[in-house]
Amino acid sequence: MKEWYDAIESAESVGKLEEIRIAVFGKKGVLAGEFAKMKSIPNEEKGAFAKTLNTHKAALTAAFNARKELLALEALEAAMKAEAIDVTLYSRKSGRGALHPVMQTMDRIVEYFTAMNFSVKTGPMVEDDFHNFEALNLPKYHPARDMQDTFYFKDEMLLRTHTSPVQIRTMMRHKPPIRMIAPGAVFRRDYDLTHTPMFHQVEGLLVDEEGKVSFANLKFILEDFLKYMFGDVDVRFRPSFFPFTEPSAEVDISCIFCKGDGCRVCSKTGWLEVLGCGIVDPNVFKAVGYEEVSGYAFGLGVERFAMLIHRIGDLRSLFEGDIRLLEQFQ
Ligand code: DAH
Repeated sequence: MKEWYDAIESAESVGKLEEIRIAVFGKKGVLAGEFAKMKSIPNEEKGAFAKTLNTHKAALTAAFNARKELLALEALEAAMKAEAIDVTLYSRKSGRGALHPVMQTMDRIVEYFTAMNFSVKTGPMVEDDFHNFEALNLPKYHPARDMQDTFYFKDEMLLRTHTSPVQIRTMMRHKPPIRMIAPGAVFRRDYDLTHTPMFHQVEGLLVDEEGKVSFANLKFILEDFLKYMFGDVDVRFRPSFFPFTEPSAEVDISCIFCKGDGCRVCSKTGWLEVLGCGIVDPNVFKAVGYEEVSGYAFGLGVERFAMLIHRIGDLRSLFEGDIRLLEQFQ
């Protein structure tokens, strides 16, 4: 019997152990053979013989089970080792992306106005003449249309030259009061140091009951907004003209480069123009069917803000996709 204990102890694989199981415990195995000998053993010795044999059977079974368990455990450990991931290995370097500086600036602008309870509205980039011009008090052949070098399609369709048409769409869809901004891409036929054919604007519009909205309200929020964007700057409102507002103003901040002393960026004036605004012209309300309301509106170019905040000299560099520029905005 000893050899079978040894065989079980030294079985190196599950397959080998199975062979031993058949040889020891099988129908024609060692134990069966031993039990068969009972027949030819004298009666008085049978009891002792059977007892010894049963002891062996139990011990062999225990040895077999223990070995089987051990082999299974070893197999599991080997599999885990083979499949293990070495977390200390170096990974292939992958670059980290970042938002484009124009989008970062846009997000900051939107963040301010949403905090002030303005909702964000969008509209189509391919617009019609009515929403882009007519309803904004820019009738056909009006000279102010020349201010906006428009890309035209057939049938009075065009690429929107500003995000102001979103005002019109919003007012035609919702009753007052309105408190909205419209961020988005706009298009003009223009290309030089400070103009690209596609750029971004944020338009703002607030409408409430007649007599409730004043120029003072507009001044307050724009001053607060510009300080949020540029820090501690002086803000001034300069009378101007826009067809969709009356009165209208352009808004300047004290030059953030020379602090107002006069430099190349501000053309020695000490001021930088950053947005246009005004009290909504009654003709605009008429076009959308609003009555007995008052409101203010404003519009700004996002690229201009980004260039000033990040001190970028050439607007076109924002659209070249040069990694060396973009890497600085991670
Ligand atoms: N739509 C004007 C533009 O594209 C910007 C603007 C100016 C919008 C004054 C306004 C405003 O709402 O009141 O140049």
